Formats: sequence, C-alpha cells, structure tokens
Amino acid sequence: MELAGGKYHIQGIELATIAKEFGTPVFVYDGKKITSQLQNLKNAFSENPLKVKFALKALSNISILKLLHMHGAGMDAVSVNEVKLALGVGVKKEDINFTPSCVDFSEIAEGVDLGVSVNLDNLTMLERFGRKYGSSYPCGLRLNPHIMAGGNYKISTGHGNSKFGISIYQLPDVMRLVDQYRIVVNGLHIHTGSEITETEVYLKMAEILFGIARDFPALQFIDFGSGFKVAYKEGDHVTNIYDLGLKLGKSFKEFYHSYGKQLELWIEPGKYLVSEAGYLLVNVNVVKTTPSVTFAGVDSGLNHLIRPMMYDAYHEIVNVTNTTGDHKIYTVVGNICETDTLGADRKMNEVREGDLFAIKNAGAYGYSMASNYNSRFRPAEVLVWNGKAHLIRKRDTFDDLVRNQVVAEI
Ligand code: LLP
Repeated sequence: MELAGGKYHIQGIELATIAKEFGTPVFVYDGKKITSQLQNLKNAFSENPLKVKFALKALSNISILKLLHMHGAGMDAVSVNEVKLALGVGVKKEDINFTPSCVDFSEIAEGVDLGVSVNLDNLTMLERFGRKYGSSYPCGLRLNPHIMAGGNYKISTGHGNSKFGISIYQLPDVMRLVDQYRIVVNGLHIHTGSEITETEVYLKMAEILFGIARDFPALQFIDFGSGFKVAYKEGDHVTNIYDLGLKLGKSFKEFYHSYGKQLELWIEPGKYLVSEAGYLLVNVNVVKTTPSVTFAGVDSGLNHLIRPMMYDAYHEIVNVTNTTGDHKIYTVVGNICETDTLGADRKMNEVREGDLFAIKNAGAYGYSMASNYNSRFRPAEVLVWNGKAHLIRKRDTFDDLVRNQVVAEI
C-alpha cells in the first residue's frame, strides 16, 4: 500500500474506491506483495534445493492458493480439508505436506489415500501407521526440539510442554517402532513457533536435525517449518531471510554432502508470504468521547481480526480518508459486545464518523480465524492482481448464518 497525493493505493487502485465498490468490512490482498515475498525466499535460498510450502492455515482463500501455486509454491496443510483445498487448485500431491496434530488416525489415513506427504507427530500414531502401512508408504516425523522460541507463548510450539512433535528424548521409542514395522522415514520436520527473529534458533534446530538424520537412511527432505517474523510497525525486529538463507543454507549443504545424497530443504511460511499483503478495511461507525478516552468504533472487531485480543498483537491502523488532519489519540474498537480493542491509544489523523480505516498485517490469520460471533457476517475478500481488484469471496449473508441450523421438533 502506498500513500501518494494524500491517498492510499494498492497497485494504483485507491483503497477508498475498493471500499466503495465492495463495501466494508473487507479484506484486501495485494497479490504482487505475496509473489514478491515468495521470490525473496527463493532468492535467499538460491544455493539450495528449496521447496516453499505455504502454510495455508494463514490464508486459505482458493484464489490466493491458486496465485501461490501459479508461482511455484507447494502447500503445508494441517487438516485433510486443507489438503483438499490445495489439490483443488491443482497443487500436485507430492508438493503437499500434511502435518496434523492430535487428529484421529482416520484423517491421517485419508491423507495417505490422497497421496500427499504425511508428517507424524506422536508415537501412538507412528505405531498405528507402521502397523497399517509397514514400508508401503513413507512418512516424515515432526520432532519437538525442546527449544523455546516465538513471539508469544501461545504461538511457541517447540518447547518441552508443547503438544507438538515427538520429543527428541523419545527417539529410542521412535527407532524401536521404525525397526519393528520397517517404517520408511523420508523426512524430518521441526516447527518451533511463529515470529522468530533470530537466525541462531534455526541453526540450533538444524544442528539437532542433522545429528538425528544420520539414523534415517531414506530421507528425502528436511523441513525447517517456519516462524519468519515480518514487521508490524516501523522499527520492528524481523527475521533476516537473507542471513538465514546464507547460514542455514550453508550448513544444510555441508550436511547433505556428509549424508551422502542431496536432500530437499523445505520451509512452510505463512505470515512471511501473506501478512503484510493484507489489509482489513473498516468504516468508522462512531466517534465516542468519554471523560478519559476517545474511541473510534468500527464495523468490525475480534470476530474478523482476533489477533490483538488473542496474542496482544499490534496492528497498525491508518485513517485512509483523512491523511492530513491533526494528530489525535484514539482507541480503535469494534462493534462486538465484548471488549474488542483493535488498537489502543493510537496517534491518528483526526477521525470523523464515516472515515475509512485500513488495518495492516491482516493477510495472515485474519480471515482464516474469523467467525460469525454476535451473528455478524464475515467480510468479503478482494485480491488486487495486475492492477485490478477481484472479488474472491462474497460477504456472508443472513442465509449463511442459519444454513446448517436445524429447528428442533420441540
Ligand atoms: N508450519 C507449521 C507446522 C505451523 O504450525 C505453522 C503455524 C506454520 C508452519 C506457519 O507459521 P508462520 O509462518 O505463519 O509463522 N494464529 C497465530 C499463529 C499460529 C501459527 C500456527 N502454526 C497468529 O496469528 O499469530
């Protein structure tokens, strides 16, 4: 999004025009930003046999999946429905990685039936997998390295008390099952959390993975998960993708030479690809002044963007329709019957009822975590691609709220 001549634009289209055409609230995605982020990753790891698998839980609109697929991304799925969404836009089954957590074994079996790459993260599932498939279908292993990393405890997944992955201290049990059922382990995977800024965390993970890898002779890939941090506000620490590509790439190359065959290096970015590309456009319904606070109340809330309330996440908010007014302090809240602060004590150009706001970094875990709480509609979604705004999801209607409900015969 650029500010030029006092107006915010995406690829030359004014945000205010998009809001007028599609209404508010609306999620708007800049397709060019998504593809340029993908290209950055490819450039950063250009010395390695890299496979980028988009963590589609971050943004699962099929037009976004299609765009990423057109540009060479595979997909990282955590439910069999996500696998089906990826297959539906034409992603090849071998480019889909399925890493479910705490699912019924039947869902893993469905992944196998669909022919995708499956990562297991629990000993009982590994045993059932071995019993059912033996050496007839390979699997990867999601490991828990006992590393605490990530922007918030709720999004840290690699520590010892996390439900994710098979603890590296349980490797003797893994080996026993692998030997007993002749399981073919074709990959090792670690995802330690989201919003990790330090390259060192990934290098530490790599050291652990490379040490373990020597016990698995049939590997085809090592999957370093994701967690690459992008900027939410000016001056934010971010993951230096180029430093990571250089250092991790170098140690990966050294490793596979000593392992004896070239392996693929997999990463599974969600936020890195789509966070900054997305904006939630909202209308200011009310300006409410109390003795202590001035609220800007918008036509959205935690039902559309839960991150500020759930993770204390900071999302920058700009006044699209007043870019020159005096700066004043506002607390931006939604219209939900619950405390749903989207941004507290923000310095913004003077806000008037009817102004349009853009909430930034709404591309990742925005719509995909949205709900119909308070019986409100989920927003529409728009993709800007090649200088044109495409509607890629209609706003809910009242019928959507009641579609699957059944009036009890009482
Ligand atoms: N791979 C695995 C196995 C994951 O569990 C995740 C995210 C990713 C990749 C992608 O991570 P990313 O690149 O987006 O950091 N709703 C939270 C984030 C939850 C992340 C869950 N797993 C948020 O809005 O911050």
